[in-house]
Amino acid sequence: MNILFAASECVPFSKTGGLADVVGALPKALAELGHNVTVYVPRYKQTKLDSPKTVLRSVTIPFDDQYRFCSVLDGGKRGGVQFYFIEYPPFFDRDALYGLPSGDYPDNAERFALFCRAVLEAAKVLGVPDVIHCHDWQTALIPVLLRTNYMGCPSYQGVPVVFTIHNIGYQGLFSPDVLPLLGLPWELFTLNRLEFFGKTNLLKGGLVFSDYITTVSKKYSQEIQTAEYGFGLEGVLRARAGTVTGILNGVDYEEWSPETDIYTAAKFSPDTLAGKQLCKKDLLGQFGMADADINLPVLGIVSRFAAQKGFDLIAQVADRMAREQMIVVALGSGDKEYEDMFRRLHTAFPGKFGVKIGYDNTLAHKIEAGSDMFLMPSRYEPCGLNQIYSLKYGTVPIVRATGGLDDTIDPWDGEMRRGTGFKFTGYDGEALLASIREALSVFADKTEWNALMHNGMKKDYSWTSSARDYVRVYEKAKHLRAG
Ligand code: ADP
Ligand code: GLC
Repeated sequence: MNILFAASECVPFSKTGGLADVVGALPKALAELGHNVTVYVPRYKQTKLDSPKTVLRSVTIPFDDQYRFCSVLDGGKRGGVQFYFIEYPPFFDRDALYGLPSGDYPDNAERFALFCRAVLEAAKVLGVPDVIHCHDWQTALIPVLLRTNYMGCPSYQGVPVVFTIHNIGYQGLFSPDVLPLLGLPWELFTLNRLEFFGKTNLLKGGLVFSDYITTVSKKYSQEIQTAEYGFGLEGVLRARAGTVTGILNGVDYEEWSPETDIYTAAKFSPDTLAGKQLCKKDLLGQFGMADADINLPVLGIVSRFAAQKGFDLIAQVADRMAREQMIVVALGSGDKEYEDMFRRLHTAFPGKFGVKIGYDNTLAHKIEAGSDMFLMPSRYEPCGLNQIYSLKYGTVPIVRATGGLDDTIDPWDGEMRRGTGFKFTGYDGEALLASIREALSVFADKTEWNALMHNGMKKDYSWTSSARDYVRVYEKAKHLRAG
């Protein structure tokens, strides 16, 4: 099958979160199954390419009052996957992908509308696929355009769109005026299309006009159909319940494996765990805690700092966490509120909370490898990748039972020696603290802890089986479109 991926980020070219990991890995897994995959992404300032060739010099994108002209670069093949980059410096040659700490870029609707149109125009020349796979609100205009402005376009007759929701908390909400600005018909501004409480909701358009909708875990596919987790789109999803499914993300073990990791101080495996202690020593050094007692458990955090991630729970119990026999090391950036909270914790308890504010892939790997435990207390979590990475590194996850965290982590049962981590359900600090304390008491028993680590390290979340599930969804979407 010829599959076209359109996404706003992709490892190793651009990344703010797990979407990039998925778009970097799933196409490779599909290619290994024998499919032809082409990935389109914007070319940002941070996208490093070795002498790319321009394949389309000038693609015309109409807006209401002007034409913009972008180009398409051939990024060549990697892992059997073809990459194309949409280049339009006024929109994408900026310091960040979506916005600055002070707020999103005000022209995000135009930026990603240009991207969506450019993909459709480029694919007409470079190869029309059998199926288009879109990801998150930035690509939601692709199905909208196909079923409106491009309805009569012979190239795309019968081409279905599969849409994956990686995070329903980000919807691409803009003023109604963006419709004419983007050259879209006003008829779209109705309750059963893109209108959403007086605004234009691009994600809603993607959900309404795609042939099949997936999200990144089974649990999240159910959660987003409820008012608690649906961010106002639960009704749209319930109406389409027959064409909504959850497919768990996999892991690219070429990138995230303690046996081959190029970023860590030492390699290790379930049979040779000595390297993990070296990684722990190195990690403590990275956080300026080289003199800390290596026998104390280290609890790692790597995250975007956003309300989704549940760090307000830490604020509720931080004083008591600081009194426990453990060290916390946290890496992250995002909302000022949480950056400040972690900075304050470091100042108040310097030997207990190691904190780095920023984005640092090498340090993220070092935290996975050198920590004993990994904390993800998310308010909601569509899939979550770090807890799955942690399992492979023998770093025991402590998670809130939501979305993919609930689907991937089994609670430790000391008697049966079963389970891979610790889970709590209630969204409150006390429940989080109880889970941490449970982990600390198991950590004190080396035999039990060893069994727990090994259970996690044995787990295999590689992409192959999820990639097969996606192929089945592509087939279903094709049938639906064929009518
Ligand atoms: P989300 O996509 O919601 O941010 P995931 O758990 O799916 O959450 O994926 C997060 C990805 O981003 C992981 O690969 C993680 O290592 C990486 N990451 C997040 N924050 C940072 C950071 N500050 N520095 C380096 N990597 C980070
Ligand atoms: C989103 C979600 C995260 C998921 C990732 C990749 O950013 O927040 O849970 O793992 O996308 O699908």
